[in-house]
Amino acid sequence: MSELAIGVFDSGVGGLTCVKELTKLMPHEDIIYLGDTARVPYGTKSVDTIAKYAREDIAFLERFNVKMILIACGTVSSVLMSRPLFEDSSVGVYSGVIYPTVTAACAATRNNRIGVIGTPATVRSGCYGKAIREIRSDIRVFSKACPMFVPLVENGYTDVDNKVARLIAEEYLEGLKREQVDTLILGCTHYPHLEGVISAVMGEGVKLISSGAEIAKYAERTLISGGMAAQRTERGKLTLYCTDSEELFSENVETFLGSRENITVSTCSVK
Ligand code: DGL
Repeated sequence: MSELAIGVFDSGVGGLTCVKELTKLMPHEDIIYLGDTARVPYGTKSVDTIAKYAREDIAFLERFNVKMILIACGTVSSVLMSRPLFEDSSVGVYSGVIYPTVTAACAATRNNRIGVIGTPATVRSGCYGKAIREIRSDIRVFSKACPMFVPLVENGYTDVDNKVARLIAEEYLEGLKREQVDTLILGCTHYPHLEGVISAVMGEGVKLISSGAEIAKYAERTLISGGMAAQRTERGKLTLYCTDSEELFSENVETFLGSRENITVSTCSVK
């Protein structure tokens, strides 16, 4: 069991923020990643459509007999919170990003004012706020949907000096700055790719919590405590699948993971 791969998926390159952290924390794990680039973005679609896509993504990863599936997508995680999807599943451990992320944000805030940014579907679901209130009812939560962040990331507009990204971030984040949040949840896994821009706009005093990194830390804790961590001594393999052009995806992989070593990229169909 411990030598099986970890399955990770997202609508596109967002989940690579989870993969990057996983490879740092658990370099000996094999990882199979699916980015559904043919259908990105998920966050502007209906709950039924997102749930249908998520089922297909999960079924694709289950074919590889993985030991764990990480839903490295805030949008899917928020939709699945209210839907039992896994009743017939053979995979033991699933996790979405909401609870690991919210736990880290509640521990980080000093003034009890947390901002949440995410896709329209995630913000509409109110899932981060609900999860925060379950842990701490004294925290105030301020949310903002940032739909244009995902296309910026998918097209590589992530540099801290990128004027377009900066202008859009200023427009989206103005209200959260006014509310003086001291902690900001990047509730969509694409957004940590824009961390430099978001941090420049929010100011140094605001702690950014990456949903991608938090789910990776959760995976590490779970695998170690469950005796399921890989025991091999060599570096794990990273097998990436995308559902659209391999070329654009490969470029993004190199930009976001910083290397192509030990990585294979292929196109697949999840239907
Ligand atoms: N990375 C995703 C998320 O965490 C999805 C973005 C999208 O497809 O709209 O929400």
